[in-house]
Amino acid sequence: MLLVLIFVCTFLIFIYLNGKYNENYWTRRGVTFHKKNKVMGVFWDFLTTPRSFFENLCDIYKEYPNEPAVGVGSFFTPCLYVPDPVNIQHVLASDFASFNHRGVDPNEGDVLAGTILFLSGKKWKLIRQSMTPLFTSTKLKSMYYIIDKSAQDFVVHLKDNPKLLKGDAFSTLSTFCCAAVGAAVFGVTTHSIFDSPFLTVARKAFKPTLVRNIKFAIANLSPSIFKYLNINFFKEFEDFFINAIKQVVRHRENEDVKRHDFADICVSLQRSGKLVDPETGYELEPTDEVLAAQAFFFFVAGVEPTAAAIFATLVELGKHPEIQQKVHEEIDRAFEENDSKMSYDTVANMKYLDMVVCEAMRLHTPIGFLTRKCIRDTVLPNGNIKIEKGTKILTALYELHHDSKYYPDPEVFKPERFSRENKNSAMDLTYMPFGKGNRNCVGMRYAQLQVKAGLLYLLRHFTVKTIVNNNLPKYRKDQVQVRLNNVDVEFSPRN
Ligand code: HEM
Ligand SMILES: *[C@@H]1O[C@H](CO)[C@@H](O)[C@H](O)[C@H]1NC(C)=O
Repeated sequence: MLLVLIFVCTFLIFIYLNGKYNENYWTRRGVTFHKKNKVMGVFWDFLTTPRSFFENLCDIYKEYPNEPAVGVGSFFTPCLYVPDPVNIQHVLASDFASFNHRGVDPNEGDVLAGTILFLSGKKWKLIRQSMTPLFTSTKLKSMYYIIDKSAQDFVVHLKDNPKLLKGDAFSTLSTFCCAAVGAAVFGVTTHSIFDSPFLTVARKAFKPTLVRNIKFAIANLSPSIFKYLNINFFKEFEDFFINAIKQVVRHRENEDVKRHDFADICVSLQRSGKLVDPETGYELEPTDEVLAAQAFFFFVAGVEPTAAAIFATLVELGKHPEIQQKVHEEIDRAFEENDSKMSYDTVANMKYLDMVVCEAMRLHTPIGFLTRKCIRDTVLPNGNIKIEKGTKILTALYELHHDSKYYPDPEVFKPERFSRENKNSAMDLTYMPFGKGNRNCVGMRYAQLQVKAGLLYLLRHFTVKTIVNNNLPKYRKDQVQVRLNNVDVEFSPRN
């Protein structure tokens, strides 16, 4: 009994001291500290409320409208929330040398986590360099045929399965995006992209379960506990994915056709031997495992946000028939003038569609916030805030897109904000659905093309209507994504 009492008291004292420590840490630096939970800050709110992580950050954004940064509790790791666009720019872009780490260190054995998204330092740089050629505009032009086929297969899939036209459009769209990323990675055959075995596995990999939420919180709160418990995120998918890549690559090695997909890149990387970074001299063997981890991550990082972007666009078009009509007209013109043959250039030239997609991704940005870890002592310009090596940074993203200072009537859907006349350079600091700086989304151009091609074929064949259910919370609880929860989209065939 006494022992329990001593234990509880020690624990409470520990909690108290840790909270006090966190508070002093930031107040000593002249930074406002968020006192609501001094020990675990927003991470506690995330674990104990049904809300998304970004929604908890929004509360802080609103509570301290004039602060250039706000300290939040995160056990022993100093953690700073950065709402100010100038400081955000500094973290993400200008001072890349100090903030080039995403803030998550996966454990050694977690092979699939060895990816562009989570890696850091020299290894990240080298892998990022090696993957970037997949996403240049020349490359995307030559792989457009895969993207186009995916979108065409999608329309056929919908027409073959009319029950998909009404109910749970997000899930239908994410099946499509998963199949489409699968096609971009493993290539297409004469079969429909919907007949791929990767679909079910890849879709399971990113479902937010309670266990994953806890892992996420631990990875963020305490790298040392994360390491000690040897937590891994993706072990269960290893065999399947590494084997899939092995099979495709071995098969391709004996083939002499250029297909312009990720598997092509894998073959040519392996043929040229070790990857070498000329700047740092760092070397890495592009093994099947290394490449499988990248391929896996195109699914994890690419599928849901791409589906969210298409969904958001359809939701808004379903609410605004007059805007939908204009999009329909632009799309019909493109099909008619080009004999129904879409190309990379046709898609790239659709100005109104581009404005609509940009605005949908402002209003419903698929990723809610960004993270970085400071890797050497530095200073944030606004507020002259000293940042110590090891500090975790959370930057606002959703909050900026919804601030009336930057976007008047922020909750109103207005594609005209992104017209050539209205677009302005101030938006460069506050509009960033794909992140910013050297660690921005490596798949950005591919994603934009995939989103637009999907919309192009969908809207050529269907009209959409939006169903709102005000009894549901607006967003589904999620770690990093912004997932609309109270709306659905219904498709009706056009004649
Ligand atoms: C509309 C769809 C997408 C959105 C909104 C999106 C958004 C983002 C954002 C916000 C980041 C973090 C950027 C930062 O921290 O500054 C990111 C990183 C990343 N994304 Fe995307 N993404 C999308 C699609 C894709 C696709 C299709 C792929 C792959 C084919 C992809 C692969 C990645 C990777 C690998 C990273 C990590 C980059 C690094 O750390 O160097 N994303 N994405
Ligand atoms: C037809 O395609 C060409 C290039 O392929 C493109 O430049 C043009 O804009 C397209 N027409 C329309 C109306 O989109």
